[in-house]
Amino acid sequence: MTPLPESEDDSRSVGISDVAARAGVSPGTVSNVLNRPERVAEPTRRRVEQAVRELDYVPNSWGRSLRSGRSDSVGLLVLDVTNPFFTEVARGVEDVASEEGLAVVLLNSAERQDRQQRSVRLLAEQRAAGAVVMPVDGGVDDLLWLRKQGVPWVLLDRGDVGADVACSVAVDNHAGGMAAGRHLVGLGHERVIYLSGPSRLEQCRARLAGLRAALEEAGIDPDGAVRPVFTEQLNAESGEKAVEELLAGGPKRRPQAVFCANDQLALGVLKGLGGRGLGVPQDLSVVGYDDVGFAGLLHPGLTTVAQPKYEIGRAAMRLLLSELNETGHRHERLRFAPELIVRGSTAAYRG
Ligand code: RIB
Repeated sequence: MTPLPESEDDSRSVGISDVAARAGVSPGTVSNVLNRPERVAEPTRRRVEQAVRELDYVPNSWGRSLRSGRSDSVGLLVLDVTNPFFTEVARGVEDVASEEGLAVVLLNSAERQDRQQRSVRLLAEQRAAGAVVMPVDGGVDDLLWLRKQGVPWVLLDRGDVGADVACSVAVDNHAGGMAAGRHLVGLGHERVIYLSGPSRLEQCRARLAGLRAALEEAGIDPDGAVRPVFTEQLNAESGEKAVEELLAGGPKRRPQAVFCANDQLALGVLKGLGGRGLGVPQDLSVVGYDDVGFAGLLHPGLTTVAQPKYEIGRAAMRLLLSELNETGHRHERLRFAPELIVRGSTAAYRG
């Protein structure tokens, strides 16, 4: 990597007027070279670019923000920063944002309303240009307040908000639940636990509805075949803790399969079952959701419903840019198709 050039005078920051004097142009011409280079004749543009390099000039974004009334940053507010699902989503958001010269500020609600409200206020105070947000529950009041402060946002991972309110990007979670259900029915499983996250999360409810629809489609009564177990958080610790409840009722009532609302929960379930001497898939099958990095590295590998995480992040940021830059912007609801990835954590029921 080319080392950053040593500036001639480190005692003070170089200003746009210094660059203009060095290149023999006006400060406005320097600004045009930096922001609208197509408006400047090539010889002049080259002189300014050379002056920028020689003086090691770094534009002051605060000055631009004061003039435009908004910062050169966007917020990405996620539910749980420790969930690797968001790492891939964030990569997609940041790749698109950086192409537009925008910085991404990562905020973590930790699935808590008070943290979400604090993050939303911070975005307003910082005059963020916009935000990609994954709310902690079904409400969007905090986000409607943010929009009133002049900060537009795109919803991530929610299917229950209409295009009359905002843009949203998510995977089709009902289809994802159906894919998991069809897979388990195809293996002969008729006693399934759905290990959900908090029921306030629409994506968790939609996955359960898809699972139930798959059993119904196979002529199996979902009320008798599917037992939902709700956890307060969507992490491995909650999954491990839930195993006690999953196995309550003894071997005769043991589920034949557990469909987890995300891979983090499934990881905890695998640990909890292993700690009780139960084998996967020998004693019961386990399905996750997301297909995060570790899903394919476990042994056995985790059967899971994959989400196009990076593409979801890119699409969300592109929609935000559309709302920021296009006068004729109309909100859109983008839905991506999930994909079942079959690995070793599921097998036919052997009765
Ligand atoms: O953040 C909670 C879950 O919702 C993630 O694991 C992912 O599945 C998202 O859709």
